Amino acid sequence: MSTSNKLAFRAKGLVVTYDSSRGPVKAIDGLDATVADGEFVSILGPSGCGKSTLLKIVSGLLKPSAGTVELGGASITGPRRDIGIVFQQPTLLPWQTVLQNILLPIRTLGLNRTEGRARADALLRLVGLEKFANNYPHELSGGMQQRIGIARGMIHDPGLLLMDEPFAALDAMTREHMMAELQRIWMAAGKSVIFITHSIPEAVFLSDRVLVLSQRPAHLVKDMTIALPRPRTEETMGTREFGEYCTALRALFNEITR
Ligand SMILES: Nc1ncnc2c1ncn2[C@@H]1O[C@H](COP(=O)(O)OP(=O)(O)OP(=O)(O)O)[C@@H](O)[C@H]1O
Ligand SMILES: [Mg+2]
Repeated sequence: MSTSNKLAFRAKGLVVTYDSSRGPVKAIDGLDATVADGEFVSILGPSGCGKSTLLKIVSGLLKPSAGTVELGGASITGPRRDIGIVFQQPTLLPWQTVLQNILLPIRTLGLNRTEGRARADALLRLVGLEKFANNYPHELSGGMQQRIGIARGMIHDPGLLLMDEPFAALDAMTREHMMAELQRIWMAAGKSVIFITHSIPEAVFLSDRVLVLSQRPAHLVKDMTIALPRPRTEETMGTREFGEYCTALRALFNEITR
C-alpha cells in the first residue's frame, strides 16, 4: 500500500522547558535533528532525557521554548492531522471491534468514511490481520493488538508516524517478530518514521539513522547512519557489521550514562 505521503522533520536549536510545581525543568537544550522524506529514524537516549517531550513537540501538543521545528518545510504551530502516533500500550477500546478501533481516527477527525473503510481493509491486509476485523481486542495476542495500533496510526494516511517505544510491553520473541513486521510495513507504506526505543539492536535493525541523545536536558550526541542492506533479516543480526553498530552505540551509551 504505497502512497507518496511523506513528511520531513527538522529541529534547530530546540529548547523545551516545563513549568513544574517545583520550578522550571529544562527537558531539551539546543537539539538539532532532521528526518528526511520517507526515512526511518530512531531516537535512543537515557530514561527521562526528553524523548517523549520531543514527540510532543513534533505532534504539536507542546510549543518550543526556543528554536524552530518544521514539518514538510513549515513551522509546527499546533496539533496536526497529518501525523500518526503509536503508543507503548495499544490503548484499544475493548468494546469496539478491530475494524472499529482502526477506524476511530476517521470518526474523530471527521474524514470520509468510505475512503476510511477502504484504507482500513488495505491496512488490515498490510498488518496481516484481515481475518480478525470483527474480533474484539481481548481475543488477540499482545503483538496482534500492537499491529492494530500501527494500523490505527496510519488510517488517515499521515506523512509521518511517531512511535514511542511501541514494543516495550511485548515479550522478547514477539518483539523480534514485530521488528521484522514493522520493517515490512514501513517498506510497503513508505512513510517517514520517528521511533523511540531503549533497545540498541532494535534501533540498529530498523533504522536508516540512529540519533543518540544526552542525559536531560537532551541535545544530540551522535547521528549514526546504519548502512545495512534491506530487507534486514534474522541473519542480518548475526553479521559482524550489525554487531559493530551495536557495540559502538553501547559504548557511546555507557559514556553518556556514566
Ligand atoms: N508535564 C511535565 N511537567 C514537568 N516536567 C515534565 C513534564 N513532562 C516531562 N517532564 C520532565 O521532563 C523530562 C523529560 O521527560 P520525557 O518524558 O520526555 O523523558 P523520556 O526520555 O521520554 O523518558 P523515558 O525514557 O523514561 O520515557 C523528565 O525529567 C520529566 O520528569
Ligand atoms: Mg518517554
